[in-house]
Amino acid sequence: MINLENKRIVVGITGGIAAYKTIELIRLLRKANAQVRVVLTPAAAEFVTPLTLQAISGNAVAQSLLDPQAELAMGHIELAKWADVVLIAPASADVIARLTVGMANDLLSTICLATSAPIFLAPAMNQQMYRQAITQQNLTALLSRGIQLIGPNSGEQACGDVGAGRMSEPSEIFTALCHHFTVQQDLLGIHVAITAGPTREAIDPVRYISNHSSGKMGFAIAEAFAKRGATVTLIAGPVNLTASPNIHRIDVTSAQEMWQTALESAVKNHIFIGCAAVADYRIADIADQKIKKSAEEMTLKLVKNPDIIADVAHLTEKRPFTIGFAAETQNVADYAKDKLTRKNLDMICANDVSGGQVFGQDHNALHLFWKNGEKALPQADKNTLAEALVSEIMARYRQ
Ligand code: PMT
Repeated sequence: MINLENKRIVVGITGGIAAYKTIELIRLLRKANAQVRVVLTPAAAEFVTPLTLQAISGNAVAQSLLDPQAELAMGHIELAKWADVVLIAPASADVIARLTVGMANDLLSTICLATSAPIFLAPAMNQQMYRQAITQQNLTALLSRGIQLIGPNSGEQACGDVGAGRMSEPSEIFTALCHHFTVQQDLLGIHVAITAGPTREAIDPVRYISNHSSGKMGFAIAEAFAKRGATVTLIAGPVNLTASPNIHRIDVTSAQEMWQTALESAVKNHIFIGCAAVADYRIADIADQKIKKSAEEMTLKLVKNPDIIADVAHLTEKRPFTIGFAAETQNVADYAKDKLTRKNLDMICANDVSGGQVFGQDHNALHLFWKNGEKALPQADKNTLAEALVSEIMARYRQ
């Protein structure tokens, strides 16, 4: 069992049905010896009572910015200074919007503005509210300021809807906080965007063309960066993998969707890594209805997709440090070096994918090339390899 002795955590609770789960989270934190002070918004107090939270946390619950008693003892500035971490769980769409614009008109938002401690949000809201462009923009803005997200999860919601927006489970939030306190956090403040997995190019409503990428390599890189405290955005094609709750995951399907999301993300990140196996071509005219079997032969007309990594690497403003991959079955080094130059990359990671040895597998080996150097990273499981790769990327980036 992890020991969080001497760790001081302000737990902010905003109005949402998931507030009942926060009671279990506080119990887990207390069991790990963390000190917890709860800040309850008026809306949250409709869902969970101060009395319960006081009993579970072992401390008086703070509810008001202008409470003379509270200001005498542990006022908002003291609470902001006391915290090693501020966690808001559940974080409603409302508090996310208010933190984005820097409001300080209640106790919780004031603490967030006044603290220098890392802030974690565990969003929880209706799936439509979560998907709204304005909510996504707010979350991206908060991420770019170093605020870290835990979740949300997808699934059935209290309102009956199904989709992304469920608060992460207390055990997942607990794990993310433990992770924060235990792992070397030397990449705090570094923002990284990574593409992973395949893309799918629709032929008709039921068929598509794609490739064998599982996403394992890209997800391993995302985890390795997050483990060292970087703020990670993972742009994932259709894969069967889960990412840690503190990774901001954006799911896409086609190359064009990935291109749009990647270009939006690239300018907000210090480092961009293109590990996805992006389809080079898409169907020229996607059929509206399922294509019926008739002739003995059939021809599909393909048109070229945008080259995501090349477009990122050719940005003239806010260009991130850009790293591509080269998946080759022959002349690996030559083709990789050609892509390094042609796509204007800062580094390329070449892998020999002949004989089905990398796509979908758990192991890989990489040969890294940059303008004036190269380095081979020997065969290893993709997680170990990703950790070595992150160290190499950071060495080049810092140069
Ligand atoms: O997902 P796994 O099963 O773990 O497998 C890992 C992997 C083999 C997919 C990965 O290690 C890898 O090599 N990814 C890049 C695959 C690829 O598409 O390589 P490429 O040589 O065709 O493309 C070169 C670079 O251009 C890549 O960074 C690619 O992301 C990028 N690209 C390609 C086409 C396109 N339209 N846009 C791009 O950005």
